[in-house]
Amino acid sequence: MASITIRNLDETTKQALRERAAHNGHSMEEEARLLLGQAELASEPIEVATSPTPANLSSTNFDASLDGKRILLIISGGIAAYKSLDLIRRLRERGAEVRVIMTEAAQAFITPLSVGALTGDTVFTELLDRNTEHDVGHIRLSREADLIVIAPATANLMAKMAGGLANDLASTTLLATNKPVLIAPAMNPKMWNHPATRRNHRTLLSDGIGFIGPNAGEMAESGEAGFGRMAEPMEIVGAIQAMIGEIEGPKPLSGMRAIVTSGPTHEPIDPVRYIANRSSGKQGHAIAGALAKAGAEVILISGPVNISDPKGCEIIKVQTAREMQKMVETALPADIGVFVAAVADWRTVKSADEKLKKKDGKGPSSLKLTENPDILKGIGHHKLRPKLVVGFAAETEQIEKYGKAKLKRKNADWIVANDVSPETGVMGGDDNSVKLISKEGVETWPKLTKQQVAERLVERMVAFFDVETIEI
Ligand code: CTP
Repeated sequence: MASITIRNLDETTKQALRERAAHNGHSMEEEARLLLGQAELASEPIEVATSPTPANLSSTNFDASLDGKRILLIISGGIAAYKSLDLIRRLRERGAEVRVIMTEAAQAFITPLSVGALTGDTVFTELLDRNTEHDVGHIRLSREADLIVIAPATANLMAKMAGGLANDLASTTLLATNKPVLIAPAMNPKMWNHPATRRNHRTLLSDGIGFIGPNAGEMAESGEAGFGRMAEPMEIVGAIQAMIGEIEGPKPLSGMRAIVTSGPTHEPIDPVRYIANRSSGKQGHAIAGALAKAGAEVILISGPVNISDPKGCEIIKVQTAREMQKMVETALPADIGVFVAAVADWRTVKSADEKLKKKDGKGPSSLKLTENPDILKGIGHHKLRPKLVVGFAAETEQIEKYGKAKLKRKNADWIVANDVSPETGVMGGDDNSVKLISKEGVETWPKLTKQQVAERLVERMVAFFDVETIEI
């Protein structure tokens, strides 16, 4: 079987190939083969565009243009409100259309008149405004924007958002919107550090809200310093560009289908007890989210976890290894399979129908265990094997040696090996130090957050699919 390698296929051609493949239900290889076959029949040479410039592999540092972008700016009360005037100017200089909602408290610091003079538009202040609510203006306001920015955002407005309250135009618009939201908080450091604000911050982050700042520094109140200063207008502009870039940025994996397993599995012993492990699902969920962000269609098959679902993925929730295996097989075919789940290696031969009872003085009853199916190994040798199969190796010793053995045994393309000894805090923690093992060798990555590991891994996947090796 001969093979050809097409290198440096330009983005447009690659995208067109991906879209054709997705539309026709083929892999990219199949589609390319089909095209080559058709070209042969037509006896016409195929022109493959090449580009000397490597494709931009990172969507995270893409600086989007703001030209023609519609920004809805919500100004809430606080001394930092004066900086919003400069923010409006900076956004308009860059071609953005800015509409503004001001809360009642904001109007104590700056006037709608000065804001309106800068935006060249009506400034919205009332929920039940006779002039704008005839067609439910607050819904329209939220939908007609590309992005909503709150600057400054008070602790009060953050609390309302976290609690889902809607008692003025700003909070009602925020509850009604289906657009991305960026918050630039500004408040006294004690308010920022208050457990209630900490809680609200976490809730908003897990709701997918973006944050810029607050920065540390002197407060307007004399003698007060710490985290609470609103980010500078140009920092906010940068965050807006990054967020718009994320929404509209390159989707290098569009047309690709990825299956990701995540979290632990729970293997029942009886109706109230189960065998489990310490996996939190953070790494698997972050990878699923990063794949979706890069444009892949993602099916995330997750064991029981206590973290929120990543955006843009189809989520299938399972309990046991056998359920996970069944769902992975049902989700085939796929271009990418990433097996991050810490699947329980054993299950009880038969889980008891009723709760197991103590037998006084006779010691604990023993459990009869049997091995669970190895999902990764099964997929690595499957006839519908994804083109890129990535496994993880959770080790407490000899990481590289065991990782390499798993690469071979499970027929994976890559193994992401990590040290899960209790002192590393990897299991359940936010950071990870991994080695990427492939047939080409071993790469040691620095300590990164699980989110960063996910983004880096997805960049590598983009690079992997960037050089198409086509068997013909
Ligand atoms: N894996 C799997 N199904 C299993 C066990 C593991 O799909 N029943 C996958 C994991 O998702 C991971 C890789 O195999 O991608 C390695 O898992 P790990 O727990 O590190 O290794 P095991 O294969 O279980 O081997 P051991 O416990 O002996 O280290």
